[in-house]
Amino acid sequence: MKKSAGFADVLIGLQYGDEGKAKVIDLIAQNYDIIARFNGGANAGHTIETNKGRVALHQVPSGIFYEDKLLYVGSGCVVDMCKLVKELEGVKKLGIELQGRLFISDQASIVQPHHILVDIHTGGGIGTTKNGIGPAYADKALRMDDNRLLNIKLGDLLDKPELFTAIQENLETTMRRYNEGKYPVSQTLADMRKALTLLTPFIQRDTLFLQKQIESGKKVLFEGAQSSMLDITKGLVPYVTSSNTVAAAAFVGGDVPVKYHRKTIGVAKAIMSRVGNGPFTSEFGGETSEQYCMESDKHNKDYEKATYNVEESLKSKNMLEVGIALRILGNEYGTVTKRPRRIGMLDLVQLRFVAKLNGVDEIFLNKCDLLVDFARTKKAKIPLIEKYTLQGKHIDYIPGSNTAYRQVTPEIGYHDAFTETISKIQHKADLPKDLLSLLETIEKQTDTKLLGIGTGAKREEYVLFSKEA
Ligand code: IMP
Repeated sequence: MKKSAGFADVLIGLQYGDEGKAKVIDLIAQNYDIIARFNGGANAGHTIETNKGRVALHQVPSGIFYEDKLLYVGSGCVVDMCKLVKELEGVKKLGIELQGRLFISDQASIVQPHHILVDIHTGGGIGTTKNGIGPAYADKALRMDDNRLLNIKLGDLLDKPELFTAIQENLETTMRRYNEGKYPVSQTLADMRKALTLLTPFIQRDTLFLQKQIESGKKVLFEGAQSSMLDITKGLVPYVTSSNTVAAAAFVGGDVPVKYHRKTIGVAKAIMSRVGNGPFTSEFGGETSEQYCMESDKHNKDYEKATYNVEESLKSKNMLEVGIALRILGNEYGTVTKRPRRIGMLDLVQLRFVAKLNGVDEIFLNKCDLLVDFARTKKAKIPLIEKYTLQGKHIDYIPGSNTAYRQVTPEIGYHDAFTETISKIQHKADLPKDLLSLLETIEKQTDTKLLGIGTGAKREEYVLFSKEA
């Protein structure tokens, strides 16, 4: 008898990244056979805390702790081979063997050293992660510089190792452009050769691999990197990443036909954050905070912890300070860089729009435990953005230009705050009634049901609302 086909669900971030997508994947992974990435590269940073230790995954899909799950990196990703090797070593140290579990599409493009160099020199205005993501995707679109190959895929390099010469030429051309005399060219190339050898067993040459898995009944969960607001086409361009991050992109970069799509899960955070520059309507402290966070070396985690008294700052009339207090309480700093993430109240107009744009079926709302901190602010209420007005008219969409978006006047609704700690609660019915009524408002205003909420940083701190999950 022919086995019936499986399906592919898509999980994406609905805000500006760092919504805690990995935590949600960790808790629903048991429902799937394969976790697959379709976009981005080492710019993603998913941290998972477990009793075996803490791992920061960048390019390897989440779900490493489920030994029976396969992991797939699709053709839409850009792969930094040396960083990936380091990541695999880290995973191995936790006693996890990925050989035979991890498959990387040979059509994924390689992040070359010159991409990182270009990003370092040009990414400042956007505030990129300096992983060479933009230049790698730009070269993918450019393809060639006259006769010199700019975009090199993993399969290309496996089949034609002479292409290391093109990688070297690309690097040297870029070094001349930026007057970078001291770059360790031969060492870098040697490291890449070694990395390719180590990665070869993971590179999948069958370009229909994932599709065949689904055809044979396997269930796939696509794990989006970055988030909808950072999409190269639909996000707040140019303050975005360089890949398509919306749900539909999973069926291009993930190497599976659209017909296998079942549902889309969106992950959002109850108190929003953003790294890098660009509009952020609900930011505490507005553009002052944007400027302050740009000085990320100075205003880092250690500085803020030493400088601000959290309880006093929470009560401040100055919203920049309220934001700083919430950042400290929510530990909203870059995992590696310690740079401060900009903080804002939950924007329901944006959330509803993004849910619509992506056809989101269910939202998982992380970090709801942190809403308790609003009880200690001057107003002692939870603020949410509930309406946008642009040139005197209510709008239910995010304007297509940043100039217009910056002119939007948000309307804030204030909701009763709760004071109970919720991290140990496991059932919806046990949540504080003020939180339940807030969650109802969120479901109503976004026209999307909640799959569950995050109630703390630990793996087991969540409440699921849907039995299916
Ligand atoms: P890039 O992806 O490194 O080019 O950075 C472009 C923008 O996306 C910057 O504002 C980054 O801070 C942001 N970004 C990239 N990856 C992530 C992520 O995983 N979480 C949050 N923001 C990200």
